[in-house]
Amino acid sequence: MLGAMSAPRPSPPRAARPPRPAPPRPAPAARLLAGDAGGRVRLYLGECRGLGAALGAEPLDLVYADPPFGTGARRRGRAGLAFSDGARGGPEAYAAWLVERLAPLWERLGPAGSLYVHLDWRSVHYAKVALDRALGARCFLNEIVWIYGLGGSSPRRWPRKHDTLLWYARTPGRQWFEAPRVAARSRRLAGRDKKAPSWWDIPALNNMARERVGWPTQKPEALLERVVRSSCPPGGLVADPFAGSGTTAVAALRHGRRAVLCDADPRALALARRRLEALGVTWAAG
Ligand SMILES: C[S@@+](CC[C@H](N)C(=O)[O-])C[C@H]1O[C@@H](n2cnc3c(N)ncnc32)[C@H](O)[C@@H]1O
Repeated sequence: MLGAMSAPRPSPPRAARPPRPAPPRPAPAARLLAGDAGGRVRLYLGECRGLGAALGAEPLDLVYADPPFGTGARRRGRAGLAFSDGARGGPEAYAAWLVERLAPLWERLGPAGSLYVHLDWRSVHYAKVALDRALGARCFLNEIVWIYGLGGSSPRRWPRKHDTLLWYARTPGRQWFEAPRVAARSRRLAGRDKKAPSWWDIPALNNMARERVGWPTQKPEALLERVVRSSCPPGGLVADPFAGSGTTAVAALRHGRRAVLCDADPRALALARRRLEALGVTWAAG
């Protein structure tokens, strides 16, 4: 029998396995990097999970969180500026990652405080369920649809041209809120203004926008002005744990509020510092 007599075939050489990408190095815990002389803004550098514990005793009036969306993509801005939108093992793991970072800040909100969580179609539904469980479904007040309009559209599906902001109140019914006014569109109210609806038609920053500083996913100031002015009282304190280029603090300081920013990337905070200096901020520390 030919088969029995033949020598065992040498197994084919194994294709060399590509080296596993190193797991992202955990950012160090947030530490105070700088604060301004007037006590209007503080910047924390590092992992925002510990931010709640690092803050002083003063309660927060508002938390706005614009986290990485967990797409696994690399978000690129200008001049080589980029951050990893880290895949976190699927949408449920992503939602758990997010809750772990937001729950301590939720605990720091005063009784009239609000939390806004800015997400997109990939993770918003998972995050909503996880946040409802962690914070209490009754604290969920509404979702804001931010229509940003920019980007291409496919002939094969409805274009994805909005993000969702989930709005939670620490004590539903007691939240500080001042409805912003927008121009009315109906013929009946022509030339008048009305309370803003729950969908916000605010253009995203185009490449030529004057306020653009180069950080990927930088949000328009008009968007943050609406969040801050509607849900943080004058003189109040807003925290942004995923601050990027500091748009939240720019909106807060412009409108007489104070801000605490945190980001794991020193390049983001360098941009935030520059934007705040342009508003007259001088630094007392860092
Ligand atoms: C979507 S961007 C925020 C953009 C910002 N709203 C703006 O207008 O520029 C998300 C930010 O979260 C930061 N980040 C990611 N993981 C973080 C973590 N665990 N702790 C603190 N910051 C983190 C990234 O460096 C990035 O700047």
